[in-house]
Amino acid sequence: MAELNECVFIDGVRTPNGRAHAEKGWFKDVRPDELLSAVYKAIFDRNPKVKPEDVEGVFIGTANPSGMQNDLGRLSWIASGLPLSVPTQTVTNQCPSGMSAIMNAARSIISGENSIMLAGGAEDMEKVGMGANMDFPPRLWEYLKPAEIPMGNTAEKVAEMYKVSKEDMVKFAANSNRLAAKARDEGKFKNEIIPVMGKKEDGTAFLVENDQWIRDNPNEEKMMLMESPFKEGGVVSAATSSPLTAGAALVLMMSRKKADELGLSYSYKYSFGTQAGNDPSVMGVGPIFAVKQLFAKTGLGPADIGAIELNEAFASQSLAVIRELKLDNENVPFKKVNTWGGAMALGHPLGQSGARIIVTLLNRMKTDYPNEKYGLATLCGGFGNANAVLIEKV
Ligand SMILES: CC(C)(COP(=O)(O)OP(=O)(O)OC[C@H]1O[C@@H](n2cnc3c(N)ncnc32)[C@H](O)[C@@H]1OP(=O)(O)O)[C@@H](O)C(=O)NCCC(=O)NCCS
Repeated sequence: MAELNECVFIDGVRTPNGRAHAEKGWFKDVRPDELLSAVYKAIFDRNPKVKPEDVEGVFIGTANPSGMQNDLGRLSWIASGLPLSVPTQTVTNQCPSGMSAIMNAARSIISGENSIMLAGGAEDMEKVGMGANMDFPPRLWEYLKPAEIPMGNTAEKVAEMYKVSKEDMVKFAANSNRLAAKARDEGKFKNEIIPVMGKKEDGTAFLVENDQWIRDNPNEEKMMLMESPFKEGGVVSAATSSPLTAGAALVLMMSRKKADELGLSYSYKYSFGTQAGNDPSVMGVGPIFAVKQLFAKTGLGPADIGAIELNEAFASQSLAVIRELKLDNENVPFKKVNTWGGAMALGHPLGQSGARIIVTLLNRMKTDYPNEKYGLATLCGGFGNANAVLIEKV
């Protein structure tokens, strides 16, 4: 039997997130498998001691594995000209897919089954829309109401249940955009973003180096006036929802022993991961249960965590999670949570985001929290599945 290993993060990259829009999206002519090709290439270019044929598994998350995203892990790998001998797996459990891919890869390293793994996720929410080819089990409606399923409806219900005001959501979303613009301007994303060729609305080709959606000067008054597309008289709007986007992210993970053998440096290891199910009609508060479980099983609490990446699917669920778990201040400005902005500004390409927030967390920890031992990444998922991952300085 293999011995238990430590699993360290060697590198992590992502593409910029483009808007998922047939005319306006910078990646309108770039497929999700091509976004993955860019991150595969970047990982091997940046880590020449790691040969593609030595990778023992590639786990790729995607939330809607149909059409261009059908077996995205395998097909993107082959279409990138990478070795056929390397096994791949497409991992899918809605928004947590990319994080689940990383957790599965980490666990295979910790168990001793593998020593070099790639894991991440990709999604293009325009080319493969949310719920593409969905055919719900009819018996589902014995347990849920159809109106409880749409993501926006769940965000409205969370706002009501957890008493999150529209004003606080607007402040939260505006702040996320300002922080993302600041981080971009300060070059904070330089280590994680791999530029990819895209097209402007007029068809001009250009090198996309930054996330497309970030609003540099959000107008809170205008945002307050925006109406809910989800519920009559509702409080959630396009400005307080994560925008439809396209992107890919990837991490290179190894057993500490293998990394030492190859002479590779590392700063953080995968420490612990949890998954929790919750009521799909308030799926956005799932991280409350995943993180509570993580704290209970590790004996840690919010005070032990230096930096937190919480995926901002909607402002309502983000604020409910932060407040309920006491992860940070009740309201912006935050000290630990998403200090380089979050999905309100960067976008949330469903199956990619769980991997993207781990990549960003690794960079934030290294750059802004060098003395902190622990970092936490967590996200909710459609139909009530949430994940949380703890990383630890080594
Ligand atoms: C909310 C949602 C329906 C809006 O989609 P859409 O109608 O295609 O909207 P857009 O993103 O193009 O934005 C709509 C309008 O609001 C505007 N807008 C968005 N954010 C704004 C802001 N902060 N300030 C001002 N205007 C804003 C846009 O500019 C756009 O106006 P325009 O067409 O005049 O440019 C869509 O983004 C959505 O479904 N998001 C949630 C995705 C989701 O469920 N993810 C899974 C989570 S678990």
